[in-house]
Amino acid sequence: MEKKFKRIGVLTSGGDAPGMNAVIKSVTCAAIDFGVEVIGILGGYSGLINDRTKVLTEKDVSDIIAKGGTVLYSDRCDEFKTEEGMQKAIATCKKHGIDGIIAIGGDGTFRGATDLSIRGIPCIGVSGTIDNDITATDITVGYDTAMNTVLSLGDALRDTSESHARCCVLEVMGRHAGYIAMETGLALNAIGVAVQEMPFDKEDLFKKIITMREKGQRSFTVVVAEGMGGEFGEALTKEIEAVTGVEARFNRPAHIVRGGIPTLADRVFGAKCGYKAVELLLDGVSDVVICARHDKIVPIDIKWALIVDRMYKNKLKDGDLDAFTPEQIEEMKALCEERHNYFVEMYKIVNSIGC
Ligand code: F6P
Repeated sequence: MEKKFKRIGVLTSGGDAPGMNAVIKSVTCAAIDFGVEVIGILGGYSGLINDRTKVLTEKDVSDIIAKGGTVLYSDRCDEFKTEEGMQKAIATCKKHGIDGIIAIGGDGTFRGATDLSIRGIPCIGVSGTIDNDITATDITVGYDTAMNTVLSLGDALRDTSESHARCCVLEVMGRHAGYIAMETGLALNAIGVAVQEMPFDKEDLFKKIITMREKGQRSFTVVVAEGMGGEFGEALTKEIEAVTGVEARFNRPAHIVRGGIPTLADRVFGAKCGYKAVELLLDGVSDVVICARHDKIVPIDIKWALIVDRMYKNKLKDGDLDAFTPEQIEEMKALCEERHNYFVEMYKIVNSIGC
């Protein structure tokens, strides 16, 4: 292995996610095992700008894998988007001899990583977001725990809904993606799921509730993704009650879903991604995101990952595709179709079996 790296940095940025600590632990222990020192950057990119760092030892990370949140803290940092902020960040890297960085977070974190790479600090991204909204990877670190948290809350809500013969409308996080709502909706036997990726037929939902109530069903669950916007969930709750005559209550657990003890899946996936990121970085690879694709953990070019994300979310800007070959663009389109088909398939199942 090339001995170019003496010290690497690790940071978490954007919304925190359970399992980020598994990545931090894995990065730290793997790097030390390869003979490289690790600097923990506190509070994401703002920690890099303001020189808040600490050396991480195996002992520092020995009992963090079971903890939710991130021991390195997190932030959404606007200053890092400015050239001045970026230069301060580079100065911190130089001061501490940080030869490369592993950045854990979502697409904003990866954009920051490419900005650093361009300025001479090689970076690798690892996903860390409950929303699962990084198109390039099948799953993100944090997603599994968040879904399991929603499951517990939804099951508990169903108990009280059953006692009172009510309908519970449960809004779950996912500003730009309906994955949490879709999967948990199926698992909670929701009679309806509303996500921004699919058209929502509320008349059909009302009909189903009325029919099932006529058949004697007491309780109902409807799951709504945050991305449906503003007061959608509250308004739907009122409408359900008005149209169907079934008493309805709205629940928004919000950030509760982002905390908590990481599941086995998030710990294992996080640890694997962290190890892979170190292996690749020390091998001279940079500007990639560690992704899960069809049960394999693979590096994907960050720029490709960011643009396929925009393509999937219909946010492509003029010139975005110029740097890519026709084959790469075809691969992007195929992945977008795969993601879209997931929602089509899941929606079909949820609407068929949910009651
Ligand atoms: O991390 C993603 C996310 O949890 C979104 O689902 C949510 O809309 C957002 O973060 C909330 O952000 P904040 O913690 O800044 O309120």
